[in-house]
Amino acid sequence: NISIDNDIGRPLVNLIRSPSFSDYLSGSDHAVPLRLLPTPEQERCFQVEVTTFGGGDRLIFVKDISEQYKLEMMRRDFVGNVSHELRTPLTVLKGYVENLQSLDRSIIEKIERPLAQMEMQVVRMEVLLKDLLWLSRIESIEHSDKTSSVDLGELTNELVGDLRAAWPDREISLSRSHDGLILGDPMELHSAVSNLIVNALKYSDPQSPVVVEWLCEKGHPTLHVSDQGEGIDPTHIPRLTERFYRVDKSRSQKTGGTGLGLAIVKHVALSHNAELNIESQLGVGSTFSLVFESNDPA
Ligand SMILES: Nc1ncnc2c1ncn2[C@@H]1O[C@H](COP(=O)(O)OP(=O)(O)O)[C@@H](O)[C@H]1O
Ligand SMILES: [Mg+2]
Repeated sequence: NISIDNDIGRPLVNLIRSPSFSDYLSGSDHAVPLRLLPTPEQERCFQVEVTTFGGGDRLIFVKDISEQYKLEMMRRDFVGNVSHELRTPLTVLKGYVENLQSLDRSIIEKIERPLAQMEMQVVRMEVLLKDLLWLSRIESIEHSDKTSSVDLGELTNELVGDLRAAWPDREISLSRSHDGLILGDPMELHSAVSNLIVNALKYSDPQSPVVVEWLCEKGHPTLHVSDQGEGIDPTHIPRLTERFYRVDKSRSQKTGGTGLGLAIVKHVALSHNAELNIESQLGVGSTFSLVFESNDPA
């Protein structure tokens, strides 16, 4: 509803009434373009980019990305729906496999191995569907406001306790020197931190320790997860957070991964305005870091 005659010369933020738009405009960080999502009053999706010149001038590009946004939503919903629909038939199959396995040895002797294989693959599919559903859930609430204050240090502490119990032979050390809270979704954060620590355990030597640190670094609440594992070749690092991307497919089959873990971590980071940083050296080890914004609601 903009009219050139009436509106020319009025401040832009009076014409586009969106808190995220005015925050973005008055902020100084324009590295990542802003997305203005559709609202009940306004069904299009826009992308805003800002270039700053000397003298405080700013050039603003606005692009209508409604079609791209619609396709993304369709892809996300499709994956979510398919995963959901596949769960029921899978549960039925699993039930039959379990029934067969409980039959008398003399009856199933000849098919014991295939049955065990079937059970393994069914479990694998279950894990895949669980991760896919979780990923589409996180994606669909990506832009929702995070309103609970989360004590990530304590959350990590409890998680490390659980993981020590599940991996009794491994050394997992945790140091906490930050006690501020962050705004977020506890379940999503739990899933992200858990994926990082489990990866550190899976991709390192059983004798080597995994080190978890929760601290304030350059004003940013930061979580580091470090291992002394096999490390990652630099060429793979930019692609690690893609869905299903694995460095070594044959080996990862054995470690039972889905290739979705880091995609989940990346989305949790995005939805919390955090950054996921990956530093790694082949044969030396890796450090995965979640760096949060410096606002502290506590
Ligand atoms: N700490 C780590 N050390 C070495 N490689 C890692 C580490 N974490 C992840 N990777 C590599 O990144 C790939 C993707 O990780 P992820 O998305 O969690 O999937 P996966 O289910 O295979 O663990 C892994 O298959 C592995 O090759
Ligand atoms: Mg993983």
